[in-house]
Order: sequence, then C-alpha cells, then structure tokens
Amino acid sequence: MGVAEELEEMRDEGLAAIASAEDLASLDAVRVAYLGKKGLLTGVLRGLGQLSPQERPAVGKASNDVRESLEKALAERRAHLEEAHLEARVAAGAVDVTLPGRVRLPGREHLINMITREIVEIFLGLGYEVAEGPEAELDYYNFTALNHPPAHPARAASDTFYVQDLSMETVDSTGESDVLLRTHTSPVQIRVMEQGKPPLYVIAPGRVYRRDIADPSHLPQFHQVEGLVVDEGITFGDLKGTLDYFCKEMFGRDRRTRFRPHFFPFTEPSAEVDVSCGICDGAGCRFCKGTGWLEILGCGMVDPNVFEYVAVDSERYVGFAFGMGVERIAALKYNIPDLRMLVEGDMRFLRQF
Ligand code: PHE
Repeated sequence: MGVAEELEEMRDEGLAAIASAEDLASLDAVRVAYLGKKGLLTGVLRGLGQLSPQERPAVGKASNDVRESLEKALAERRAHLEEAHLEARVAAGAVDVTLPGRVRLPGREHLINMITREIVEIFLGLGYEVAEGPEAELDYYNFTALNHPPAHPARAASDTFYVQDLSMETVDSTGESDVLLRTHTSPVQIRVMEQGKPPLYVIAPGRVYRRDIADPSHLPQFHQVEGLVVDEGITFGDLKGTLDYFCKEMFGRDRRTRFRPHFFPFTEPSAEVDVSCGICDGAGCRFCKGTGWLEILGCGMVDPNVFEYVAVDSERYVGFAFGMGVERIAALKYNIPDLRMLVEGDMRFLRQF
C-alpha cells in the first residue's frame, strides 16, 4: 500500500474513532493517538525523510490535509460533548440554576470624596472658584505668612511632619525645616492672594497632615476644605450668613448654627462654629455629649497682618476665611463613631453611603 492510501485509511479510521468517542476523556485519547507527539500521523511525517524528493511534496500536503480534517472533527466533537455534558449535569440536578449569580461590585466614589464634592458644590453655587495648593508646603505659607510667631507650638516637630532635604548634610536640632507636609489648607489662602487680585471668592479642598496618633477622632492624614473671601465691604455678618447657609445645605434646613469666640493666628476676630445636633435637635444626647451642639469648623475675619504679607490693601479690602475637616463632617452627617473606619477600606462599611 502506498503512503497516500495509508494516509487516507488513517483519516477514515480517525474520523470514525472521533465520531464514536462518547466522552471528553476518550476523545482526548483519540487525539493523542493520531496527532500526539508519538501519534500515527506524526509517525508518517517522520517517515517523509525516506521518501524520494519527488514524492515528498504530495505526501506532505496529503498528511497536512489529514491533520486538518482530524482537528476539525475533534473540535466539533468536543463542542458537542461539552454541551451534552452540561445538559446532562443540569438534567441530573448537579447544576442548581436557582443559585444567585456572583455579583461583581462596580467601583464607587469614596465617602470622603463624596463629602468633599458636596461641600465644594455648595460654594460653587455661591459663585466661589476652586483653588489648590501643594501638600508638601513651605513653612512660609503654612505658618509665617499666616501670622504664626516663630515659636508657635504648632511649628514643633512633634506636631508637624517636616520634610528633610537628604542632600543637606546637617539637620536642624529642632527637627524643623523649611519644607513640611501642610497642617491645614490655610496656606492656599496665601497662594491665592499672592496670585490673584480681589474680589476673591475661593474654595480649596485638600489633604492635610498632623503628627497625631490615629484614634476615634484623629487621623494623621485627613482632608480639609478652606474658604476665602476678600472683597470691599465684607462684614462678620457675611461670614455668619454664608456659613449658616452652608450648614443648612449640608445637614438640613432645620439645623441651626452658633458662633463661639475662638483664636486663630491668621483671623481676628475668630470663631468656632457649631451646628445643632441632628439626633436630639439641641436637647442634649450622647452623640453631642449632652451639649446639643456639634463643632464643625473654624473661621474668622482675615487678620490685617496676613494682608501685609500678600500686599492686599487692608484699608480697602476686608476678608473672611473658614476651614473645616471633611472626615469630621462625614462622621457628623452619618453618625460614624470612629474616623478610622473611613480609611480602613472595608467595603462592608463603605458600600453603605
Ligand atoms: N486652619 C484652621 C485649622 O486647621 C481652620 C481655619 C481656617 C480657621 C480658616 C480660620 C480660618 O484649624
């Protein structure tokens, strides 16, 4: 028998074996027997070398044709058997088609970003513009131009993360340097007033850092939103009206605000603002520690000393500024008992918002 006939016979036997394979395992055995490394067809190809050069091309082509038709038949038979296999399992009840599917949760905005966006949008509605500044900031913007005296306690290396210039051989014995991780978003006030001219209506969200140990009410890294207005004829009444409007938008129409005198080096007079407790409506409860009020931000009228640093004419212009902690506002709005929950990334918690 010639090689051509041998190949033809092999193909017919192979096709018959494929057609009669009753499961995937025996189908694969057929594949190995014919097309595997030690398979029948491979054997023929190995023998090509003994053929005369005239015979070789025709036999080579014929064996390729055989390989193709066997592969095609194998693929078809496999698809058929796989489907039959699945159908059999469904029929046998091995696949419970009533099981719920596997849910793939899409990504979503983090609560901190959501609250930041809500705050910013309220002020955009009032005509403010968004400003930003660097997180690694100069001491000058974070403290000096904000009217902090040289020995102000907030400057201590125990409270502030200083950035060391590793190219410098010597390190200040106090641990302080000219570059730090900003401790608040107030330096953006200085940058905005340096770059622009009044009237200024600016809202500046961003990340800030303090050398605190994380606990239910502190995080070493958190977010603030800063506000700054500089214009002619601005009064403390404008500040009060603006922040009262903000609180009602943020927490609800029924919430009240109160302003308590406070101190900040860069505002005078300064105040802390409380919003009435949403749980007891001011009567006093555990959430507000019996006071009926929740502290939400610091604010005040821009100190003329600050205007000096940025060359704004304090005879002509008046300003107010405020700064609030995003995590704290999130916690108050949603009764979150521990700020650390916001940064732990537990989806069972974060999904709720
Ligand atoms: N920067 C102050 C803080 O972090 C908040 C503040 C901002 C106070 C603007 C007054 C004016 O506590």
